[in-house]
Amino acid sequence: MSTSHPKILLIGCDGQVGWELQRSLAVLADVTATSLCGSYGYALDLLNPDAVDKAVAEVGPDYIVNAAAHTAVDKAESEIELSEKLNTEAPAQLARLAAEHNAVFIHYSTDFVFDGESERPYREEDPTAPLGVYGATKLEGELRVLETEAAAMVFRTSWVYGNHGHNFMKTMLRLFRERDELKVVDDQIGAPTWSRMIAEATAQVIGQLQSGAKHAEELKGVYHLTNSGETSWYGFAREILELSGESCSLLPIATHEYPTPARRPAYSVLDNSKLNQVFSLTMPDWSSTLKRCMEDEKSTS
Ligand SMILES: NC(=O)c1ccc[n+]([C@@H]2O[C@H](COP(=O)([O-])OP(=O)(O)OC[C@H]3O[C@@H](n4cnc5c(N)ncnc54)[C@H](OP(=O)(O)O)[C@@H]3O)[C@@H](O)[C@H]2O)c1
Repeated sequence: MSTSHPKILLIGCDGQVGWELQRSLAVLADVTATSLCGSYGYALDLLNPDAVDKAVAEVGPDYIVNAAAHTAVDKAESEIELSEKLNTEAPAQLARLAAEHNAVFIHYSTDFVFDGESERPYREEDPTAPLGVYGATKLEGELRVLETEAAAMVFRTSWVYGNHGHNFMKTMLRLFRERDELKVVDDQIGAPTWSRMIAEATAQVIGQLQSGAKHAEELKGVYHLTNSGETSWYGFAREILELSGESCSLLPIATHEYPTPARRPAYSVLDNSKLNQVFSLTMPDWSSTLKRCMEDEKSTS
């Protein structure tokens, strides 16, 4: 990228990752932050392709960062068309527009592109086999984005939580207050990832591109971007409970004891080595990061 003060079009700025991106990207660029309802000034509905064309033409971005998606994994099973539109077609349109405007396209995907049968952390090139509609439509989105001429980077992340939006940490904090006992699935293993870490890493990547240290055209592809380490949902809940100072009896259960419309991978830890090799980024351990997020949560509640 050649401009010293780049323009970023951020989509989905009211989601967990998008909200953190607004803050992390603000120091790097002139950010036009859009959300579905326009709460930050600019409303943009990804289901309206004409509006998307218009927004890109108006902003003339150097970077398009797409944090919007249909992330409701269980609902997606019955909302197939909506999932395809938001998770596949909209990213493909944004990537095409990025190519036309010579902008870099940054997009996010998920650990749910894998079936969870691996015995080691998944690498970017490992075979994909999504178990549900969410994972399948996100995977198709990745492929469609990478088919375009855009200098596109797709960051696959996992088990996202944070101080803004709906997530496991916030649900647990509410349930600890409401219940004496809670059963949590202990046989799904993944890496809880703070939305702020995803935003900070994205800002670092853009900073490196902007400085000319790295060239987006040469770096097109998929990257894994999660906190390091691994745990189960039960292990995650236990750590939240301990940090919260609440009291609640936590019981580990098996996946079959908590049936959901969508199947989830039993093991979906992602290997971040490529991110480290290409961008020299080291992702901190999930538990140290959770501690900082919980401190923020306490200070604002
Ligand atoms: N959440 C996770 O655990 C997780 C795990 C792995 C990967 N990811 C990926 O990480 C990325 C960010 O996820 P997140 O957790 O930040 O998601 P999120 O909190 O659910 O935010 C998604 C945002 O997309 C917006 N959106 C929905 N429909 C839209 C539309 N028609 N037009 C414009 N915006 C629309 C939503 O707006 P409303 O809230 O107003 O509907 C919401 O603000 C996504 O690509 C997701 O697939 C997430």
